[in-house]
Amino acid sequence: MKIALMTAVTIASLCAPALAADEKPTADKFYAGKCASCHGKDARGNAKMAKMFKVEAKDLDLLGEKRTKEEDAEFTKAILDGKGKKMPAFKAKLAGLDVADLINYIQSLRSAEAKAAAKP
Ligand code: HEC
Repeated sequence: MKIALMTAVTIASLCAPALAADEKPTADKFYAGKCASCHGKDARGNAKMAKMFKVEAKDLDLLGEKRTKEEDAEFTKAILDGKGKKMPAFKAKLAGLDVADLINYIQSLRSAEAKAAAKP
């Protein structure tokens, strides 16, 4: 039993992304690794997750509203402290990443989306 557990832990640590503990993650990698599963690669939300969590699809859409200072403040709070029952708090897990960088990255997906839509 103990050995099985240790094996599982070893395998889990081998599968962990090759990030040195003291290396500051970049916002795009952090988002892809920690947020995209629920909020989608494009920050528009993962419909399957919304169904599973019994939240509305728009709750997982991070680009649903226009970017404002107030929204940035709300995002900061949600990311640091969590929100509702399903959005985890990331305060202790940012590994040195600035929450503002993360929000800027999320918001940058908006212009990526606009560019893709503008393509003929
Ligand atoms: C386990 C799934 C899950 C993961 C992983 C997750 N979130 Fe969320 N997030 C949610 C849910 C569900 C909500 C909606 C909570 C509510 O409104 O009750 C939410 C809400 C938010 C909000 C608030 C949006 C608003 O309009 O107020 C922000 C910002 C956010 N998440 C950012 C992130 C970021 C950044 C990450 C990665 C660091 C992340 N989330 C990871 C599930 C998740």
